[in-house]
Amino acid sequence: MAEVIWGLATSHVPSIGAAMDRGRTEDPNWKDLFDGYAPAQAWLAEHRPDVAIVVYNDHANGIDLDIVPTFGIGTAERYRVADEGFGQRPVPDVVGDPDLSLHLLESLVDEGFDLTVFQELDVDHGLTVPLSVWTPDPGDAWPCPVVPLLVNVIQYPQPTAARCYALGQALGRAIASYPEDVTVGILGTGGMSHQLAGARAGFINPEFDTMWLDTIGTDPVRLAALSREELIRQAGSEGIELIMWLIMRGAMNEQVARVHSHYFLPASNTAAGIALFDNRVPQPA
Ligand code: DHB
Ligand code: FE
Repeated sequence: MAEVIWGLATSHVPSIGAAMDRGRTEDPNWKDLFDGYAPAQAWLAEHRPDVAIVVYNDHANGIDLDIVPTFGIGTAERYRVADEGFGQRPVPDVVGDPDLSLHLLESLVDEGFDLTVFQELDVDHGLTVPLSVWTPDPGDAWPCPVVPLLVNVIQYPQPTAARCYALGQALGRAIASYPEDVTVGILGTGGMSHQLAGARAGFINPEFDTMWLDTIGTDPVRLAALSREELIRQAGSEGIELIMWLIMRGAMNEQVARVHSHYFLPASNTAAGIALFDNRVPQPA
């Protein structure tokens, strides 16, 4: 049986990846953000899973905007790093785990989540920046194979927070029914509050982000009750990316232990947050 050992929620701001790629993590503007990651990185280095599931969104880099699946899953052997217009990031391609992908696909379809299947996919900053936050110096390879789980957060109507939490719970059951004895890390990515365009461009809401960071571990059901409109009102039109944290949380146990969290603003136009949870803790009877 496969077991989720940890969940990592993190923002995916492209400039965080660019700062790492250019060796700027000690610059005064960046140092506090990267120092805030260090305790999580140290713990994660001691808890390397056999495979990771990365819940993320593409930003019209790997998938054309003509086709916008609500939920999707990668089933490939390998995912190339997307060129987002400035050349590929100098990070390794992502090795897949087709066996686990196909098991998750079948289980989730059987539970009523009709995922779109990506047999080929280039992965953008939505996936590679969280991998860098986890593993700042990957060398030739990321720490383990990855299954990408895709969510539409960029075009109306995005799935509801409640639907994402339910998908996470079904994902947890799908992982538990995988016959191989493997350990799994799960990443929920995107957020925190931000709005990149329109009348509220630059909007950030630290009160909302703090509430979200405080609540995601202990009471995700409360967050899952927020409507799409309420999320956009409170977190901004791109802050709705936070619904992907609920898929991660839904796949974890009822009780989780917070290992580390950190909040920094702004990174580019975005409030950057990280929250790491240990899933191997005693559960209520
Ligand atoms: C920024 C944030 C994002 O979530 C994103 O996908 C692209 C850019 C930003 O703040 O610059
Ligand atoms: Fe984004």
